Amino acid sequence: MKLFRLLVVLSIIPLACSTGRIATAIVPGELWKDNRGIHINAHGGGMLFRKGVYYWYGEHKDETSNEANVGINCYSSRDLVNWKFEGVVLPVVTDNDSSDITKGCIMERPKVVYNEKTQKYVLWFHLELKGQGYKAARVAMAVSDSPTGTFEYVRSYRPNAGIYPLNFTQEQKADTLTLSDIPKSERQQLRSAVENGLYVRRDLAGGQMSRDMTIFVDDNKKAYHIFASEENQTLQIAELSDDYQSHNGRYMRILVGKHNEAPTILKRNGKYFLITSDCTGWAPNAARMAVADSLFGTWTELGNPCVGENANLTFQSQGTYIQKVEGKKDLYIFMADRWTPKKPIDGRYIWLPILFENGIPVLKWYNKWDIKGAKY
Ligand code: GAL
Repeated sequence: MKLFRLLVVLSIIPLACSTGRIATAIVPGELWKDNRGIHINAHGGGMLFRKGVYYWYGEHKDETSNEANVGINCYSSRDLVNWKFEGVVLPVVTDNDSSDITKGCIMERPKVVYNEKTQKYVLWFHLELKGQGYKAARVAMAVSDSPTGTFEYVRSYRPNAGIYPLNFTQEQKADTLTLSDIPKSERQQLRSAVENGLYVRRDLAGGQMSRDMTIFVDDNKKAYHIFASEENQTLQIAELSDDYQSHNGRYMRILVGKHNEAPTILKRNGKYFLITSDCTGWAPNAARMAVADSLFGTWTELGNPCVGENANLTFQSQGTYIQKVEGKKDLYIFMADRWTPKKPIDGRYIWLPILFENGIPVLKWYNKWDIKGAKY
């Protein structure tokens, strides 16, 4: 009888492990349940590591709409697998239609950084004003004393109003060509005009367009905003002020005219690698990669970092952030979204370990892997 009981107990233990909350593996594309048993709702996310805890910030999405009807969510974890819901850390405004972040606006790709000088957590995100589609193309900022908020909304704007990029030539500044000078059929002419700064000049007074974005803090603690600008044709990389709460006016155009979105970045052995996507909305496309010795360039294109089946669709996902795993010399997680625009809340998370071959990032699909090194 005792033996029978022991056998029953032994057979229940693995069952508990597979159904309980003590998961250890990252399973890309599956439902990822939080401490409440609810699929994590943190799309287009970013991550912050602070005092032994990872904080994952992302867009709350609902059943039918990609608009922000709730706000920015936050989850916390010590092991990157078991996540606790920390709440809505920047709620939309429900009682003031003239607020930038009124319910029904679009809040995308939130990223939080911690500023050691001010001891504040600074949240940046892509904001589209309610009812204007993706026309506003603004960046927005909120601040908190704690990583779990509540963040106080500060402002939104288009960056670097009235300031030319550092790599804009005298000739480009003097060019007077405008969009209406270019016949619609002349695509090649438009392309070279865009490369030559057509939209930079058009948007100079009001600031540069700012859509898909990330924030990167370098080893020297300088922070940078990397964003799809110029009608998504060119990435810009802009320095933030020392408190990380504004742009300081120093910025560069990079990968000019290469239409990159979804910027993600890592630094390893003194080299910066950008992994981005093409511009096809919610539909996946092939990721691209570029390398540089300094953030302001020169950036050299390296092609698609993905290999294997579905490599040309980034394994049916689009990048959003790269997080280094603390305490592991060389473990970086490529975080991506598998968007489901018809049912946005069901969007899945594709996290993959970045492999390095001859020092160059490579992404391979794994059904399951863990941060201790197992890959299946
Ligand atoms: C994607 C972008 C998403 C969202 C979407 C809207 O290309 O990466 O963040 O803006 O377009 O169509």
